[in-house]
Amino acid sequence: MKKKIVLGLLIIVVILQFFRIDKTNPEINRIDDFIEINNPPQEIVNILKSACYDCHSHETKYPWYSNVAPISWWVKDHITEAREELNFSEWGAYKYKRKDHKLEEMIEMLEEGKMPLNEYTWTHADAKLTPEQKIQLINWIKETRTLGKIKKWNNGLHLNNGKKWKANEETTASINRMFEIAKIDVEEGRLSHYAAMGERLNIEVEILFKDCTMKGEEHNQLHLYIVPLIDKFGSLEFVSNEDEAMILQKDILKDLNNYHNYFE
Ligand code: HEC
Repeated sequence: MKKKIVLGLLIIVVILQFFRIDKTNPEINRIDDFIEINNPPQEIVNILKSACYDCHSHETKYPWYSNVAPISWWVKDHITEAREELNFSEWGAYKYKRKDHKLEEMIEMLEEGKMPLNEYTWTHADAKLTPEQKIQLINWIKETRTLGKIKKWNNGLHLNNGKKWKANEETTASINRMFEIAKIDVEEGRLSHYAAMGERLNIEVEILFKDCTMKGEEHNQLHLYIVPLIDKFGSLEFVSNEDEAMILQKDILKDLNNYHNYFE
């Protein structure tokens, strides 16, 4: 009798193995990535990548035990739930308010020691944060939150000792193309044209990131310059009336012009 039960269980476990989880990661759009947008120092990048990105992004590296059902289902559920709550790969698409709220939640989770999940650090020793790493990460998130709140051009963007920053040619060309796209006059009653404009501008942002060879402080400054613009391009895709759209368009043109005050 006992033998039969054990054999029965064994057969069930074997059968379970045929129900495999889907481990393909959704496609990654670099311009929406949390790290790409916020450009943290390398230590912070390392912490985020080793302690959070497996669950909260589209860059999941599945552990070996995710090959074994029913543990695999449990892992998959965790990842699905984590991505719904906070997805670093879709950060750029979050509205400003949501970004702010998620940053606040991150601070809370870290302060309460709830993230990364305990079950995860059992098997990922490098994800276990030292007290110093935790403080470092919390401080950086707080700083990022404040920076986000000051949605003005002086959010840290400044000249290089009174001189303009050197940009690479491709970056300047990209900004110039954005200007050409953003200055198109939209006829009355064509609200959808603004959405199309936002979409084209976002494609240009993607090209700009791909071709950018700027490094160090120049690169930081470009980030400070471009991030609020990306928010505005995104908003253009969702405007609900023409007055709003026209104000936004004017604002974008002003910002694009402002590039030449800081970069050459
Ligand atoms: C093993 C997977 C896993 C890892 C690693 C992980 N999380 Fe989570 N996280 C989850 C899951 C699952 C949820 C949703 C359920 C919950 O709140 O417990 C979540 C929820 C959250 C939330 C939203 C909480 C809320 O109240 O809505 C935040 C913020 C968060 N995690 C931040 C982080 C940060 C920061 C890290 C890295 C330091 C991290 N997580 C690492 C799985 C993970």
